[in-house]
Amino acid sequence: MHGKRILLIVGGGIAAYKACELIRLIRKAGGEVTCVLTEGGAKFITAMTLAALSENPVHTTLWDLKNEAEMGHIQLSRAADLVVVCPATADLLARMAAGIADDLAATLLLATDKRVLALPSMNVRMWQHAATQRNVATLRSDGVTVMEPDEGAMACGEYGLGRLPEPEAVLAAIGAMLGEPGRLAGRHVLVTAGPTHEPIDPVRYIANRSSGRQGYAIAAAAAKQGARVTLVSGPVALDAPKGVDVVAVETARQMAAAVTAALPADVAVMVAAVADWRMDKVSPQKRKKVDGLEIDNLLLVQNPDILAGLAVSAARPALLIGFAAETEDVLAHAAAKRLRKGADWIIANDVSGDVMGGSRNTVHICRESGVESLPEMDKDAVAAALVDRIADALR
Ligand code: CTP
Repeated sequence: MHGKRILLIVGGGIAAYKACELIRLIRKAGGEVTCVLTEGGAKFITAMTLAALSENPVHTTLWDLKNEAEMGHIQLSRAADLVVVCPATADLLARMAAGIADDLAATLLLATDKRVLALPSMNVRMWQHAATQRNVATLRSDGVTVMEPDEGAMACGEYGLGRLPEPEAVLAAIGAMLGEPGRLAGRHVLVTAGPTHEPIDPVRYIANRSSGRQGYAIAAAAAKQGARVTLVSGPVALDAPKGVDVVAVETARQMAAAVTAALPADVAVMVAAVADWRMDKVSPQKRKKVDGLEIDNLLLVQNPDILAGLAVSAARPALLIGFAAETEDVLAHAAAKRLRKGADWIIANDVSGDVMGGSRNTVHICRESGVESLPEMDKDAVAAALVDRIADALR
């Protein structure tokens, strides 16, 4: 993002404070930021905060004689490579869709010929209201990129869709709109995801609750950052992410073979919940229920550990990442698992709640140097944050 100039319009919502983190990330990536603060935005954060973080003057009014003598609203748009609206409130989206120009932000958005990225943030019912959805559809057909908001707990105490996307995900979207090659360009990222199914007979199998969502989100986030991505997936009900090669498998042994076939890779992220056991012998016919024949008559054997195998193979990726789904002593088990499996990082998550199959996740990144705990986030945001750290590690 070196030398790119972002015009950041900060609207009047509680998520205005997240614009501060976004400024920091854009500048860290080499970009420059100029802020426009709406009257509503100024109720939540100050122009001083934005000026200090961006190290640029902050524009707040259309009626600034000095700036408007030079057509300030046109100049601001002219000097920008991209316009970002963060947060885009329901009101701001409505004014944009209607072409109303009643303050500096709205006038600028009407006058600009640059690409616009809007980041909605509002109460779930305001987001789902037919008027807002209509405005978003209008804006999209007008060529504005409107990011989907995240789902989660809101400042208003409710739960649902409407949270501002996490700053890392916004940064990736900005990079993509600026035509940046992406932080993982030229890298091959291998991801395993989903459960494995271990057949008992032609109609039954051993499985687990993994939905594949976190692994699919990581594959999608890596592709967005320009990586070539191979996603070896167990049986899930998810669409292939855009730009990702999906290799569909069923059993742990098929997954192991597909992983080997996909090597070499720069990074492997093993998110799959691989079944630890399989039937010693799969019955060719459907097993009949026999009274008195208990479940422990199923003779199980252990599956190969794909992650541990990769750690000692000649084709070990430079960065090998495992996941640890734990229900107790999460960090201690994750640290032990990292050493036992020979992984560089273990991403630990507490799955005692409804993480498996759910849309949100709280993860701890366990490295040799220590643990970094991320706040609870949407699985897409967890993916963007992890991919960001992977790109840092490969630099
Ligand atoms: N994994 C793997 N192959 C297996 C089992 C696990 O590649 N046969 C990977 C998973 O994809 C994950 C990590 O190893 O990245 C952790 O798996 P988990 O099953 O939680 O670890 P276990 O060693 O089986 O530990 P335990 O069941 O005792 O918690």
